[in-house]
Order: sequence, then C-alpha cells, then structure tokens
Amino acid sequence: MRTEIVKAVAAAAGLPEAEIAGQLTDSREPGHGDFALPCFILARAWKQSPPACAAKLAAEVALPAGVARCVASGPYLNFFLDRAAESLRLVGGLLAAGDGVGRGAPRGERIVVEYSSPNIAKPFHVGHLRTTVIGHALARIHRHLGYEVISINHLGDWGTQFGFVWAGCEIWGKPADARIGDLVGLYQRASGLRKDQDAGTVAPGDADKPDVNAMARDYFIRLEAGEPEARAFWEWCLDISLDYFKSMYDRMGVHFDHYTGESFFQDRLAGVESMIRGSGILEESRGALGVDLGPRLGFVRVFAEDGRSLYITRDIAAAEYRTETYDPVRILYVVGAPQQLHFQQLVGVLERMGRPSASRIVHIPYGHVPGISTRGGATDEKVLLNDLLDDAHARAREAYSSQVVKKPQDVDEEALAEAVGLGAIFFDYLSRSNIKDFHFNWDDALNFQGDTGPYIQYALARINSIAAKAAATGLDPAGGFDASLLAGDDTYQLVFQLRRFEGILQKAAAEYEPYLLANYLLELARSFSARYSSLRVLGEEPTVAQARLSLFCAVGNVLRTGLGLLGVPPVERM
Ligand code: ARG
Repeated sequence: MRTEIVKAVAAAAGLPEAEIAGQLTDSREPGHGDFALPCFILARAWKQSPPACAAKLAAEVALPAGVARCVASGPYLNFFLDRAAESLRLVGGLLAAGDGVGRGAPRGERIVVEYSSPNIAKPFHVGHLRTTVIGHALARIHRHLGYEVISINHLGDWGTQFGFVWAGCEIWGKPADARIGDLVGLYQRASGLRKDQDAGTVAPGDADKPDVNAMARDYFIRLEAGEPEARAFWEWCLDISLDYFKSMYDRMGVHFDHYTGESFFQDRLAGVESMIRGSGILEESRGALGVDLGPRLGFVRVFAEDGRSLYITRDIAAAEYRTETYDPVRILYVVGAPQQLHFQQLVGVLERMGRPSASRIVHIPYGHVPGISTRGGATDEKVLLNDLLDDAHARAREAYSSQVVKKPQDVDEEALAEAVGLGAIFFDYLSRSNIKDFHFNWDDALNFQGDTGPYIQYALARINSIAAKAAATGLDPAGGFDASLLAGDDTYQLVFQLRRFEGILQKAAAEYEPYLLANYLLELARSFSARYSSLRVLGEEPTVAQARLSLFCAVGNVLRTGLGLLGVPPVERM
C-alpha cells in the first residue's frame, strides 16, 4: 500500500518517488489515518506554504485502490486505507503465517553472533546473564529475518584462573566427583589466600601454605607449554564447567552452534603471529610488542614481555578465523561496555593490518546490572545462575498462585513456573535499551499486571482460552471472516498495531536493540487486554464472533512469535 501511495503522490507532485518514500511515515494512531505525508518538501517545489500544499495535493492526488480517502491536516496529508480491505489482507496473512509471522525469505547472508562467553573455572554468575539474553534474542531475530546465523560461545577457557584452581587442589586436595561449585570454591579459596599472602595478612593456620601466586604461574606456564599433566588438569576443569554451562543453557533454551573459546585460538596462533609480525606494524614498548594506534586508542600490547599471547591476540585470531570460515557480513560481539576500548583496539589493529575482518566487527555493548538478590542470601553479581533460576521458579509459582485468579484446571504448574520465571527474567532484561544500567527487581519483573513478560504470557494464554472455548461452539479461526466487521475504531486499532510488527522486527535487528520488540509486544498485549472484554467473542452473533476471534488469533500469533524471538517461553495456558 505504501508503495502505491508513494507512486500516486510522486505523480501528482512531480517529484521523484524516492524523495516521497523518504517522507511518508506511519501515522501514530489510526484516527490520523494510516500514513502521513509531511508536505514541507512540496513547499519548496511549489513555492506555497506547507498547509496550502497539503490542501492542493489532497485535491489533486489520484488515490490508488485500497486507499479510502486522504485529508489535509495542517502541513500534513493523512491517508486513510480502506479498513476492511486492510484488515482482510493483514489479519488473513497473519493467520496463514502461523508461527512464521514476520519471517523473511533466506537472504543468503551469514551473521556471526558471539555472546555469553563466560570465564571457565570462575563462577558463571549473574554477570553473564545480560549478554546471554541479548545475544540469544539477536541471534533469533536475525535468523527469523532470513540471515543464516552462526552462534558462538567464546568461552574464557584459557588464562591464569586455572592456576588458582590447580593451586587449590594441591593445597586442599582434589575433590573426587567434583562439580562446578567445587572448582569455584577452590578458585575463590586460593585467590583469597593469595590476597592475604600479598598483603601479609595470612591467618596463623595458613602460615605453612605455599606461595599461591607462584604455584598458579608455574602451572600456567606448564599448560601453555603443553605439558600433559597440566593439560589433563585443564581438560578436567573444562569438562566439569561445560557440563554445568550446557545444563544452564538448556534450561534457558539457549543454544550455541559452536563453543570455540580462547583455548581454540591458542592452538591456532602460529599463523596469526607470523601475519602480525609480517605486517610490519609491530613496535616495541617497555619490553612488549604491540601496535601504536595513536593518541586516542593508544599503544596496544599484542604479545607479552615473555612472548606469550594476550586476550587481544586470541581475539585477532578469532576474528580472522570467523571471517575465513564463515565469510559473514557481520560479526556481532555482545560484550559489556567496559570492553569498548578493547574492541576499538581490536578493530584498529586489524585495520592497520589491512584485514577485511575489521569492517565486519560490531561490538554491541551493554550496561551494568548491579546484582540480584536470591533467597539464598547472596545479593551481588556472584549469585550463581542455577540459584537464580531456582529462585525464579519458586517466585513465579507463588506469583501465579497469588496473582492469577481464574486458573484452568489441569495446568502443569511446574512447567508453568519454569516458563514464567524465565520469561520474567528474560523480558525484564530486554525491556530497556542495551546500554542502560538498571536494577533488577523481582516484584516488578513478576507482576502479572505490570510491564512484564508474564503479563504478555498471560495475554497469550487468554487468547488461547478464548479460541478453545470458541472452538467448542464450532468456530474456527482458519474458517475465514467478514473483514468489514473489523473496520470499527476499536478493532481497527489492533489491526493498525499488528501492521507495525514487521517494521519493528527489522528495526530491532538493524539497531541491535531487542527492547524495541519487547516494548512493541507490551503495547500490543495492552491493547488486546484493554479490549477483549468489550469485544466479546463468546455468545456473540456468529459472524461477529468469527471476525473477532480471527483478529485475536492474529494477535496471538504475533505475541507467540515475538516472545519466542526474545527467548521468553510462550505459555499457551495459565
Ligand atoms: N570472557 C570474556 C568476559 O567474561 C568475554 C569475552 C568476550 N568476547 C571476546 N571475543 N573477547 O569478560
């Protein structure tokens, strides 16, 4: 419709279509029509005031079929679609698309999305939740839009932290059947002792303990040299950690195509090293080799004094590997804002090396979430993710039983609590722009009346319940409907909002901002909830009931798909 209007206006105004297309906007609300054209550009061409141009254009434009009328309003010309025709097109299309609403045709383009990337042998705490949630949503949204998405977990699985776990095992014994908590405990205990040793505040009972820092360093040197015992210990840590991470990801419905962490690139450094050295950009500064990126980005150390690789060296290798292996149009890195400089330097070094990977890298920074309190008592970022998810489950159960009044009989409350608990967290984390810092608050996130995931899950369940009851009376949302019955202001408002879905998805992808989708779904659910009791389905005359049911089911398809893209489990009944 938009293209048709653009053509008609361009013809009447004698201006190029592209110029009109850039001006024609979606109206804010259907009372002002479906599309609006600000007439300021015409004023220049026609040498009249914008309101006069709007009036003149209104008289002269030949309205395409499907546009009922156009009305000049000040400097704007508002276009009103034929509501019945538009409702038929849109609602019919959404019903036919099912869960594929808004899905794009394959684009033949790849995008790499790297996210989560926790550091192994350190706790997977709430600090890595935001990257997990944002990255997961971005991966799903892009895939839905037709990109081939490669999701990657760049595990922090190489580094001195393993030395601390090693030292802990040497000092206090290696636990049999160790689990992640044991590794984390040893890591924390050893690094605590190291701090005391550094500060000279070792407790009398620990006075005989060896120098933790030296042990850790010695271990890491052996690991880097590939010494079998050190390597076996590292693999032991890795197995235990990966088991745990994967079970967490499964629980959250998060999936990675590849777990290629830092160690993967550690083994592939030789080629990168010769490439960097061969590029002639390395300089020496205080014993370390690096690249001088000028006053803004500074001198970037690429190799340590002893020649070892650094975090950025492995990132150079990773960027090269991904570009070569997948030939993606973009590589997204969902990593916290504190690493902004790191990624600018990474791009800077790759640019200086003349590598094409430089222009594909997009760092998606996100702000800080100060910490979540759990009933276990911990109130900081060190809260382990499984504790958080257990807590979410328990709280969701309570919220459901205290806040939802009319419950269906045979609901699986365990599954429901899990879906609502996860939904509350995921949605809350995605309901403001990436870069904003915020405090997570359970009561806000779990409020079935609030701006929350559970609120939308509930709206969807309500639609399903209406559909089920209607089906029992012989109505079928796929059975066709009389679209003229959706032309009233109340129903058309929903049609109008449904039309925005596709554009919102594209914008969320283009700006890497899932919150745009989250906010849209909230508005749609609010609109539905405000109307569903006045727009009754059950007990209405069959043609009216059928038209409303079709509209609600179209809303349901958009809510279900949209929630899924955000990683919020859609709840069909509650
Ligand atoms: N493991 C890092 C951390 O927890 C994040 C890794 C980010 N990705 C990268 N390619 N450097 O801070």
